[in-house]
Amino acid sequence: MIRRPLMLAATVATLVACATAPGVRSERADQVTTTSQPSPTPSPTTSPTTSSSPAGDELGDGIGDALFPDLGNPGLDVVHYDVELSYDPTTERVDGTVGLDVTLTSARDEITLDAVGLTASNVTVGGESVVAVADGPELRIPLPQPGSAGDSLRIEVSYGFENAQILSPIGFSIGWFNTPGGSYVLNEPDGARSWLPCNDHPSDKATYTFTIAVPAGLTAVANGTLTDHRTVGDQEVWTWQQDDPMATYLIQLLTGDYEVVDGTGPDGLPLISVVLRADKATMQQFIDVTPAMIDFFDGFFGPYPLDSYGIAMTDSFGGLAMETQGRSLFSRDDFLGGLGYTQQLLLSHELAHQWYGDAVSPARWVDIWLNESFATYAQWMWLEHAGFSLAGEEATFALENRPPGSSADPSAQDLFGYNSYDGGAVVLHALRLTIGDDKFFELLRRWATENSGGSRTTADFIDLTQTVAGAPMGDFFDTWLFAEQPPSEFPIGQ
Ligand code: TRP
Ligand code: ZN
Repeated sequence: MIRRPLMLAATVATLVACATAPGVRSERADQVTTTSQPSPTPSPTTSPTTSSSPAGDELGDGIGDALFPDLGNPGLDVVHYDVELSYDPTTERVDGTVGLDVTLTSARDEITLDAVGLTASNVTVGGESVVAVADGPELRIPLPQPGSAGDSLRIEVSYGFENAQILSPIGFSIGWFNTPGGSYVLNEPDGARSWLPCNDHPSDKATYTFTIAVPAGLTAVANGTLTDHRTVGDQEVWTWQQDDPMATYLIQLLTGDYEVVDGTGPDGLPLISVVLRADKATMQQFIDVTPAMIDFFDGFFGPYPLDSYGIAMTDSFGGLAMETQGRSLFSRDDFLGGLGYTQQLLLSHELAHQWYGDAVSPARWVDIWLNESFATYAQWMWLEHAGFSLAGEEATFALENRPPGSSADPSAQDLFGYNSYDGGAVVLHALRLTIGDDKFFELLRRWATENSGGSRTTADFIDLTQTVAGAPMGDFFDTWLFAEQPPSEFPIGQ
């Protein structure tokens, strides 16, 4: 039995170290510094051009997320995004348009989108050009006529960029990354707005169509299913459709010398995986283990909640693992030595997020334990099933090593810290011992099934726990979840 050589929070720590290492991506760090400076007074420009001013966090209009006050946009519900981008890895230039079908949720004469460091060249509302203003982390878009709650509008923004990363408050760079022969995006929690004008908050999920043009010979990949692929002049245009509601932080967008590998999972579930062409033989074993993992988890968590699944093996730095919706993203570098503990951990963790994080998403970033602690607990279950370690032992180890602090109240800096992962999985283990296996797994199943497609808070989880347990659970959550320091030993199991 191998003892935990790696935990995902540690993986994230590696990622932090990578992203901030001297000399690594320093050019982009400079850009980040520039765009993070306080913005001068926003300057309207004449239609159809907008100005791009540096981002200033203090200027953002958010929706009241305590950890990320400038994320999200008041009065706005995005229903669908049409993301049309053209990218050439030799020039590292991206140009395109995003079309948003939006519904107003309050009376407005202006809406904002989250957009950092992006230069918009033309903005239309219902086909009419408007004078939009790039105002720090917001793109301010006046409406041609004042709108009322319930109105539906089509917004189109043409824009472009060359380097699009931001230093997130969580401590590392996220956004659009160029690779020697392609690119990938990493968005969680607030990086999508650095390459896509959007409503960058997980409380607003939408469907997406991605139409990505790359030089002939390259492949472009995004969430969902490939619905069109054609050659236009010297470019190949790839269209991917995501019909399951998705948060912006879960977008997958890859370009490069990729091959799409189709397969079938349990109950006919389409498996759509993506590997670099040269890696195909090496990566097949990880594609092959996926159906057994899905089968294992759906026995506990309910049917796989999305239209398809797959894995994507990109040429990013090692230590990367992200639950991009419907197709998890990994770094090829972490998968060159066969299927061991680390690979089982990463593969199972990101798969479990499809139920916890992707199908049901956090309504606020402070609710992140609903993602990470659940995926960690699921990973412990799989590692036990695969013969690597016992979930109860993982839980005991995590309880002993847990730093003080509530898993339900992380700071932005600690969003992906120990207590969001193993520290919160301790809470789930204590809950399992308190209410018993039958109720515990009924609760996990109902949480995923009843909230699929939505965004929920910790309070919602507590409500469902009380319903399933048939008893008030306030004392349990006060003791295990909200306390700075939980008890030093688990309850005696039922
Ligand atoms: N959600 C990822 C995981 O657990 C961790 C993560 C957070 C991340 N932000 C990221 C990974 C940004 C890559 C990039 O599994
Ligand atoms: Zn995770």
